[in-house]
Amino acid sequence: MTGPGYDAEGPAKDPSHSPQLSQQQGFPVTTISIKSEPVAAVAADALIVGVYKDGEGIALSPGAAAVDEALGGTLAETLATLGATGAAEETTRVATVGGLAAPLLVAVGLGEAGDGEVVGARGLEDLRRAVGAAVRSLAGKQRAAIVLAGSGAEVLAATAEGAAFGAYSYDGLKTGDAAARKAPVAEILLVTTAAPDAETQAAAERAQVLGEALTAARDLINTPPSHLFPQAFAEAAVDAVKNAGIGSLSIEVLDDAQLREGGYGGLTGVGQGSVRGPRLVKVSYTHPEASRKLAFVGKGITFDTGGISLKPSASMETMKSDMSGAAAVLHAALAVARLGLPVNVTAWAALAENMPGGNAIRPSDVLTMFGGKTVEVLNTDAEGRLVLADALVAASGEQPDAIVDVATLTGAQVLALGHRTGAVMSNDEEFRVQVESAAERAGEDFWPMPLPAHLRKTMDTQVADLANMGDRMGGMLVAGLFLQEFVGERAEGGLIPWAHLDIAGPAFNEAAPYGYVPKGAVGFAVRTLVQLADDAASGLY
Ligand code: BES
Ligand code: MN
Ligand code: ZN
Repeated sequence: MTGPGYDAEGPAKDPSHSPQLSQQQGFPVTTISIKSEPVAAVAADALIVGVYKDGEGIALSPGAAAVDEALGGTLAETLATLGATGAAEETTRVATVGGLAAPLLVAVGLGEAGDGEVVGARGLEDLRRAVGAAVRSLAGKQRAAIVLAGSGAEVLAATAEGAAFGAYSYDGLKTGDAAARKAPVAEILLVTTAAPDAETQAAAERAQVLGEALTAARDLINTPPSHLFPQAFAEAAVDAVKNAGIGSLSIEVLDDAQLREGGYGGLTGVGQGSVRGPRLVKVSYTHPEASRKLAFVGKGITFDTGGISLKPSASMETMKSDMSGAAAVLHAALAVARLGLPVNVTAWAALAENMPGGNAIRPSDVLTMFGGKTVEVLNTDAEGRLVLADALVAASGEQPDAIVDVATLTGAQVLALGHRTGAVMSNDEEFRVQVESAAERAGEDFWPMPLPAHLRKTMDTQVADLANMGDRMGGMLVAGLFLQEFVGERAEGGLIPWAHLDIAGPAFNEAAPYGYVPKGAVGFAVRTLVQLADDAASGLY
């Protein structure tokens, strides 16, 4: 690669010197199906039932009655003896010794009984988490059957989703006997009394698609930066689009030379400190009956060293996850396509490696972003907003009805909301409420944050249109305000409705697994994006 302002490309540019993603093993996809059979007869390695906390004792969920009967009516007593309390996500194992076709029973806590029913978005999410914990506890087993904790397609959907999301573990680049490592449960059976109807069948299929989207996003995020650099991400996206085999799905990749020539100063600037150049990936899905067009924009920093404004070593350890937004938008768009939703979606992945190489951008350098705005780079570690600026301008150019960006953007987001809650900021209150509503129904925790206009001037600078840093206090909001500058106008006037999801905290789980959340990559925001597309498809906004 040659060109003004560019380093000679090092050997890592040659794919033969960069490890290939295909070296990774990965576990087989977990399948989900509905089984209408008496619970006692279901052939599985384990049967999962839900139990509630009921005062000092435990109460079986409605679906568990038939299991209890097959076991001689002693299940609640047995579980209590084993110390089960019904607390949320608690798992208790019981050998069924001939009482059921399944040799092992796993009772999972659903929390306080209430009126013994799964109610509302919160109740459904608690159910997802409990089922996820139970399925996670069964890693190493082939087939798990789940007795539903209630009736109706919503309960079935939440159960299927919890199972699909919990059936994940990253196998990475471990060598040796794969069979000796505990693979996630490969087959999930949802046990129902009635034969599945079209609605429950569709719910199970949707859960399968969402589960595969989460697995694919998590795999990308967990992949070490030695193996996942911008070009490798772009190639993985091309493969994923090809493998989906959907005619109305297409992909375009701009490489480093095209980005430089095209005036994408943010991506080019951030990427120029690395021998592995930046990429802009655009995945488009169209549906003939669509009346709405959404753009999803993802931050795809395959590794964030901070650049010349180098991060301390400890802060760098998890920075392979700095492309979580790009992974989320890619696999959300693919899921929308696989579900065949009548909506048009374009996903943009803004990919670069933020390295402090000899040609890296310096604090005080000025970049000309796509669309012409100039930015003084005061801190090279505020790189996400630079690559996103280019992508937001590019996305705006296609006049979508709304734009959602997803980014592990600021440490301030983690300080404000911790490791399990994402932040949502927007230039349009109505649209922000739509995003919050979609997130709630999808079961992801997001909380609204403001974009106070007075903070904009803290990014004023003498030498360019704005700086990439402002007040340190309220850093999450300042980053949001920076992005807002690059959201385009609608042809008919006014700004394109835009929401910014800062997922720096919840994207990567450094702690122990919980619910359906594994250690490492979470796949955060995928479900909210799919739900938002679903809502647009059904004319909800
Ligand atoms: N990728 C980081 C943000 C981050 C921090 C994500 C912790 C996940 C966990 C981002 O690029 C960054 O370094 N932001 C700086 C911006 C600052 C220099 C204005 C930050 O938040 O410290
Ligand atoms: Mn950074
Ligand atoms: Zn970053």
